[in-house]
Amino acid sequence: MASKKRLVSGIKPTGDLHLGNYFGAMRQFLDYQEEYESHLFIADYHALTTAYEPEKLRESIYRVAAGYIAIGIDPKKVTLYKQSDISEHSELAWVFNCITTMPFLMRAHAFKDAEAKNKEISVGTFDYPMLMAADILIYGADVVPVGKDQQQHIEIARDTAEKFNSRYGQTFKLPEALIREEVATVPGVDGQKMSKSYKNTIPLFGSKDEVANAVMGIVTDSDGEFPEYVYEIHKLFRGEDELKPLYGENKSNYKALKEALIADAEKVLSPMREKYNALLSDKAELEKTLVAGSEKVKELASEKMMDVRKKVGVSLN
Ligand code: TYM
Repeated sequence: MASKKRLVSGIKPTGDLHLGNYFGAMRQFLDYQEEYESHLFIADYHALTTAYEPEKLRESIYRVAAGYIAIGIDPKKVTLYKQSDISEHSELAWVFNCITTMPFLMRAHAFKDAEAKNKEISVGTFDYPMLMAADILIYGADVVPVGKDQQQHIEIARDTAEKFNSRYGQTFKLPEALIREEVATVPGVDGQKMSKSYKNTIPLFGSKDEVANAVMGIVTDSDGEFPEYVYEIHKLFRGEDELKPLYGENKSNYKALKEALIADAEKVLSPMREKYNALLSDKAELEKTLVAGSEKVKELASEKMMDVRKKVGVSLN
């Protein structure tokens, strides 16, 4: 039997997971867990670019771990681990730093956005795409399922692989981004991309009331008949063939439509929420799962790094 292709992706442990994470990326992780040999990790070193409270960061790490499993990822089939447990990611990122130019990284959207907002930018934020390239390339990933906001990062990873290969000889495989068009950018309650930093999220594992409050806060146009932002989120939960008549019958009745969305969301979210809360009540078990996962991938990462050290000339034999 031909061996399975490899899938690699990660989530940053900053704040709570939301519907954008779930529909844009995590559903793909779930749908592909049989087809690919999957490596899913918690990008805790990436989180350090914005998360400065150690206790909160630790809690978020557990939450992402619980989140993966609560949506149906089976840790027996998929390797789950923490980025910081595999120090080779950061080591490889340093090597990539040395073959990458500043002007190249200055083209990254995340950097340009931060600069446009006159934010004080840490070197880690600037260098973010190199650690991400290392996360992906170190395992020879074939595919990287993500939302559209990560597309440029995958392109940067490909460019970095090509650059390294042309300088030192064939070493890294070029990965493909997997982006689902219909959920490439899940909108938040204000119609912009759902994002923790825009404070427009609907929590994936929030209580029924938290979800209901977020849904009630979806912005609607006071003189239109059709609440577009409600519909855009509703269609994540129910087929458009059913939604269209419902929205037709309830023109301008935003409250009824939001209530219908809350009920439809609850059907999908409540079993996952239950599992999530149960998982979080046993943190030692979550930790065991992450340690076991890191032990599985450590060898692959360390072999690749040995090869890289030889190729660049820092290893003496
Ligand atoms: P993060 O933690 O911001 O998001 C995790 C995943 O959720 C997707 N996503 C969305 N998709 C559609 N619509 C949205 N509104 C939406 N919001 C978030 C993201 O695209 C992502 O797939 N840099 C990454 C983490 C990372 C990573 C990696 C990913 C680090 N190394 C290597 C893949 C491969 C991030 O911050 O994702």
